[in-house]
Amino acid sequence: MMINNFRLQNFRNYKDETVQFMPGTNIFVGNNGQGKTNVLEGIYYLLTGKSYRVQREQELLRWEQNEFHLYGDFLLAHHKVFLESHYRDKKKMVKVNQVPCQRLSDFVGTINVIFFSPDDLVMIKGGPSERRRFLDLHIAQMHPGHVSILNAYNKVIQQKNALLKSYVAKSLKYSQLQLWNEQIIELGKKIISNRLDLTKRLQEAANQIYPNLTSQKETMQTNYIALGKKDANEAISQFPQLLNDKLEQEMERQMVLIGPHRDDLQILLDDKPARLYASQGQQRSIVLSLKLAELELIRQEKQEYPLLLLDDVLSELDRFRRDYLIKFIESSRIQTLITMTSAETHLESGALYYVEKGHIRRNL
Ligand SMILES: Nc1ncnc2c1ncn2[C@@H]1O[C@H](COP(=O)(O)OP(=O)(O)OP(=O)(O)O)[C@@H](O)[C@H]1O
Ligand SMILES: [Mg+2]
Repeated sequence: MMINNFRLQNFRNYKDETVQFMPGTNIFVGNNGQGKTNVLEGIYYLLTGKSYRVQREQELLRWEQNEFHLYGDFLLAHHKVFLESHYRDKKKMVKVNQVPCQRLSDFVGTINVIFFSPDDLVMIKGGPSERRRFLDLHIAQMHPGHVSILNAYNKVIQQKNALLKSYVAKSLKYSQLQLWNEQIIELGKKIISNRLDLTKRLQEAANQIYPNLTSQKETMQTNYIALGKKDANEAISQFPQLLNDKLEQEMERQMVLIGPHRDDLQILLDDKPARLYASQGQQRSIVLSLKLAELELIRQEKQEYPLLLLDDVLSELDRFRRDYLIKFIESSRIQTLITMTSAETHLESGALYYVEKGHIRRNL
């Protein structure tokens, strides 16, 4: 799949700019603060209906404007898609092939995208919620049903939390909690097994990437830690007991203390927690490997590669790792949009664009 043409109007620092992309590698070069990240953010927004940086569309509006528009021509394996995203008077509107989409979820996932952003490094250093989010976002791209299960589960957790909070006032009955626990177990098991399945497949794919990226010097391992246990299948079978065991503590703390909303994805570098020991370049390498592993899983399921957006990925990587990444992109022929602050010498092919003050110029 590839993007041919992209137009941004009043989006971030772009007034009205159109870019024609090439198959293969597209390199965006420019000084700091010129608009390289903003182009990738615009494409990501057009494809997912979300910015990965901010919650509110208001911040995406070019200063002092009240509407922005994004347009993109995409070429899939067997057909073309023209996507539009409009934000006007605080309302969003999406069109697919000029037909308005009722719900954003109707089109999300039709065109897949993998985005590496330096912000993703929080996956290593940040809390467990960052890592759960990474897994859930991928599962949702492939199986939108996962989102409904997560929503239903979170609602049950909120309700049980509310019940636990009213415990002192109302003298809570054990049977009342039991009712919520049954739902927590039923929905929770599905969430755990989806995440567990993804973790295993990601690890398999990453096994083909991380050792090569590090010239066989390092290993990386991910384990999904369900309900505090490394053996997730054992955790699933013991879920009712584990919930029961926590009951007193839950009443004391007035919140649900065990379930997939507290799970974690453990990331090990050479058998030690990456969170504690990985260097900057190693953190970047781990996140990059997980993203490239995701890319491979999407290709396996959809029979075509997603669009690959790499923002500022090369900094902090040593010469060997940079070369490996460039070779990987060039040999796979995945359409890739990559940003950097200076034109790298070792790029053999690819279209080069200069980004300056919200203008993009192709170097011909
Ligand atoms: N809503 C907005 N309206 C207008 N300009 C904005 C808006 N949001 C951000 N900018 C400006 O956009 C500029 C470019 O931002 P961007 O993050 O794309 O830079 P970049 O080229 O990726 O830089 P770096 O190399 O530092 O990552 C910044 O100078 C910022 O002030
Ligand atoms: Mg940037």
